[in-house]
Amino acid sequence: MRDIAELKVQAAEQAVTFIQSGMVVGLGTGSTAVHAVRAVGRLLQAGQLRHIVAIPTSEATAAEARSLQIPLVTFDTHPVIDITIDGADEADPNLDVIKGLGGALLREKIVAAVSRRFVIVADHSKRVTQLGSKAPVPVEVIPFAARPVGDYLQSLGARVEMRLDGADKRPFRTDENNIILDCYLGPIADPYQLAAAIRQQPGVVEHGLFLNMATDVIFATPDGLEHVTRL
Ligand code: 5RP
Repeated sequence: MRDIAELKVQAAEQAVTFIQSGMVVGLGTGSTAVHAVRAVGRLLQAGQLRHIVAIPTSEATAAEARSLQIPLVTFDTHPVIDITIDGADEADPNLDVIKGLGGALLREKIVAAVSRRFVIVADHSKRVTQLGSKAPVPVEVIPFAARPVGDYLQSLGARVEMRLDGADKRPFRTDENNIILDCYLGPIADPYQLAAAIRQQPGVVEHGLFLNMATDVIFATPDGLEHVTRL
């Protein structure tokens, strides 16, 4: 069986074949999406892609893109993105996904929301029949609201864990200096209802349920690539 690291590369590089010269590209975050960023850098260097500009979904991705001389722009000049390629923590048969174990869900959702095409790249371990089966739903919260939001999420049935960082286990801070509460729910019967409920509580900035947003999911499996699309 091909190892997972190799499958991540295959999924990401397949998605990059959808990029054409002149496009505005959203660059995702994580150990799968980084392979798409690197492939874009290589194709630009080789002259096989030209006049690409990109919007990164995190400071980490911005740094990677800069190191590869991928020109970065902002929404001020490029409010619409042609294609975004990003990873996921879970994807279901409806192309609904959970994202955010890498901590970048807020910028990722902002970028995805203005993308004409939003391509998820993942190895087969991310495929689920019901969201929540394996991954928690990350909820980005302003630090001041940690307790009331945590209590509220528990009242929705979640086991809530504040995400921690570093050897001293301090609260993880996002690029926007918020915290993340990981919500372990098990298989979610109605992700749309849950997403609406999470939004009700003041202090919630964003959640990791990306519903009806992905246009494509590319799964890399030991038997080859599987491309599911709603285009
Ligand atoms: C970051 C994300 C990542 O895309 C997601 O966590 C998948 O990461 P990886 O490809 O490393 O498994 O949502 O916020």
